[in-house]
Amino acid sequence: MIHIYKKGINENTLLLLHGTGGDETDLLEIGKTIDNEANILSVRGSVQEGGMNRFFRRLRPGVFDLEDLDKRTKELYEFINEASKKYGFERKKVIAVGYSNGANIAASMLFSIKNAISGAVLLRPMMPRRDIELVKNDNTRVFIAAGTHDSICPPEESKELAAYLEPKNKEVKLEWINADHRLTYDELLVIKEWYLQKF
Ligand code: MLT
Repeated sequence: MIHIYKKGINENTLLLLHGTGGDETDLLEIGKTIDNEANILSVRGSVQEGGMNRFFRRLRPGVFDLEDLDKRTKELYEFINEASKKYGFERKKVIAVGYSNGANIAASMLFSIKNAISGAVLLRPMMPRRDIELVKNDNTRVFIAAGTHDSICPPEESKELAAYLEPKNKEVKLEWINADHRLTYDELLVIKEWYLQKF
């Protein structure tokens, strides 16, 4: 997968996953704001939709191609494993930071691959799927940043997502941001505070 890797000075690795139409440069500043000492592994989604990069196919807005989601989720997981060997970062200290489509594939990993990542910051996520029994992630901590008036990732889905993840992960924090689909600087500071306590 096309990506950027930057070595940091602590043992954590932030796996940055952009939104639809973005690329591997989009979340670099956000990564730096959350932990400017962590390694950065920022990945470009390999699916194209009308010239826009995505991490998996969708049939139409909000309706995902579940077969493709499954395949791309496994591909991303394998990519993290290989990158950890190639760059020598600690595989057990990978924290995903995903926005929108990137949050959705991170959530998909949490749903279907046991202990794939040790943390996830899901920025404006949706329910990736409803057709499988979730795996149990022993030590994974999840932060969901949901927009109170987000029309792309509706608040009900954020609540549903938190309810699915809660019994299956070590911690799930659902934070309501007075915002739409766009991120705010203030929420990044709330995320940073949570992150510094947990990782
Ligand atoms: C998705 O397709 O993953 C969601 O609709 C969010 C987005 O627009 O990227």
